[in-house]
Amino acid sequence: MEYIKNKILSTPIFLLGAVGLLFGGVIIYILVRIFTLQNQIEVLSQELNGTRTELSLNTNKLSKNVTDLTNQTTGLSKTLNNTQQNIDAVKSQVGGVEQSVGAIGGAVGNLQKLAQVDPQILKKYSKVYFLNDNYLPAGLTQIAPEYLYTENRSEQFMSQSWPFLKNLLDAAKRDDVTLYVKSGYRSYKEQKSLKSAYTMMYGAGTANSFSAEQGYSEHQLGTTLDFITTGLGGNLNGFDTTLAYQWLLTNGYRFGFVLSYPKGNNYYIYEPWHWRFVGVKLATYLYDNKLNFYDLDQRQIDTYLVNVFD
Ligand code: DAL
Ligand code: ZN
Repeated sequence: MEYIKNKILSTPIFLLGAVGLLFGGVIIYILVRIFTLQNQIEVLSQELNGTRTELSLNTNKLSKNVTDLTNQTTGLSKTLNNTQQNIDAVKSQVGGVEQSVGAIGGAVGNLQKLAQVDPQILKKYSKVYFLNDNYLPAGLTQIAPEYLYTENRSEQFMSQSWPFLKNLLDAAKRDDVTLYVKSGYRSYKEQKSLKSAYTMMYGAGTANSFSAEQGYSEHQLGTTLDFITTGLGGNLNGFDTTLAYQWLLTNGYRFGFVLSYPKGNNYYIYEPWHWRFVGVKLATYLYDNKLNFYDLDQRQIDTYLVNVFD
């Protein structure tokens, strides 16, 4: 039996058949696998398509969302820009209003200041403007005897200008410069009698060269004075040779004082002793530009009126 079995198994036909069977099995297996794989590929492919479609849909949705968001952002940005522009416009309007309020405030302030100032005090007298016999300075202050050359004389100065003159005299003293007031405010009447006396003494021609007619003297304003110093025997002549005069030339403007009648002026002889208060601002302008008060146009001078007591 065993023999027969081996015989069969060793026959070529059997072997061939076995190989054929095996081969056939393998082919069938492969075919089945291919079929199965095809099915799987089909399923996978369908799934892939589904996923692709979904992805595409999602991508579209996302893209739409991005577009919406971009639009919203642009809208917001525009709104923000508009809001900023509105804020800027409101700000500039507020700024404009503030400026106007400031300007109005400044104008009102200037008007209030001007209301305190006698409009006459910066006028050009000296044969140009006239002060009538009723004209009195707004207020007069008695000058303390320590500032007077002749202590028992009574000299007055315009009250608003007096602090400037006092500061000047005190500053000169601190600099060891001897400076006194010889003559301050003179009324119309006083000027009249002084001028008559000079005319009697020297004749009209000479008197007119150094003494103003009543109504034309800066002394009637109360803001003008004649300085004097020691060493001149009480005289004004020679004042320009003194240290006091040099000090005034260098420092007078800092206190608002200017020399009315320098050498070569059109009105009177050279009067180095005769100084007029015109305010620090105008005096500084004249000093800086090497100009004299009477060189300026009255219109230009008047622009300093508002600041005359600053
Ligand atoms: N000495 C000057 C000009 C006056 O009399 O006012
Ligand atoms: Zn004088």
